[in-house]
Amino acid sequence: MSMTDITTANGTAPIPGPATPYQGDIARYWDHEARPVNLRLGDVDGLYHHHYGIGDVDHASLGDPTDSEREKKVITELHRLESAQADVLLDNLGAITPDATLVDAGCGRGGSMVMAHQRFGCKVEGVTLSAKQAEFGNRRARELGIEDSVRSRVCNMLDMPFATGSVAGSWNNESSMYVDLHDLFAEHSRILSVGGRYVTITGCWNPIYGQPSKWVSQINAHFECNIHSRREYLRAMADNRLVPQAVIDLTPATLPYWELRATSSLVTGIEEAFISSYKDGSFQYLLIAADRV
Ligand SMILES: C[S@@+](CC[C@H](N)C(=O)[O-])C[C@H]1O[C@@H](n2cnc3c(N)ncnc32)[C@H](O)[C@@H]1O
Repeated sequence: MSMTDITTANGTAPIPGPATPYQGDIARYWDHEARPVNLRLGDVDGLYHHHYGIGDVDHASLGDPTDSEREKKVITELHRLESAQADVLLDNLGAITPDATLVDAGCGRGGSMVMAHQRFGCKVEGVTLSAKQAEFGNRRARELGIEDSVRSRVCNMLDMPFATGSVAGSWNNESSMYVDLHDLFAEHSRILSVGGRYVTITGCWNPIYGQPSKWVSQINAHFECNIHSRREYLRAMADNRLVPQAVIDLTPATLPYWELRATSSLVTGIEEAFISSYKDGSFQYLLIAADRV
């Protein structure tokens, strides 16, 4: 395993870096990622997300299509829906006390971590393959004065630096499609205490459709990821002492976000694949909350 030096609150510490060539590719991808759709939305209130939104669009808030402020209003609305998504994930963690530790596996720029700390008052540890993202998240935590509670580090989520049974809740918010699910859930199961809660929000292909559709293949190529099926999630959880407590199909709730995003100047070209695959039933946006037993 290679080691990467990043600056932490306590100085410079050697941190485990990517373990495989593929993880090196993903680290580079996120180190260079600076799409306006992510940054301009985060600029709205300083919560930087790399995930999608859910909930009904508030059309009244968008004003007239000819309004000179329309674009700004669309960005604010898309951001509101992305934060609503993180809120639903946090709702499913159950009761978390201020003395607990939570882990955000694949934490991106840290928006969900900040929200978790603001809600529960507890410690939140994040891991990402990208040194740029970890630096960004730690800088935001310092700006907010919460750097003692919210920390990002460069680390492989299949090999996390947390003691066995030390964590009350952990999650993957759109980050489980980069890893083998058995390896991932074995690691969550190790760090979680018995009775702890794991939550994922993820896109997955629908086994009822048969095989991954052409749209799913397009999304994989676009993000250099490997979308799993709903069946694989449930099987890998069952094999790793994670028992689903809730399985929520968020597909209908995410479509309005995509349809609004497709009308904005922030389109990235992948919108058609998401909208088409959600509509033809080949792809689902799923939340699974599971108890560590
Ligand atoms: C789509 S982003 C999601 C970011 C964040 N969860 C959010 O909701 O804003 C995917 C994230 O997964 C991380 N990731 C992918 N594979 C990883 C691995 N093996 N270990 C740690 N992080 C990983 C990437 O570095 C990136 O931060």
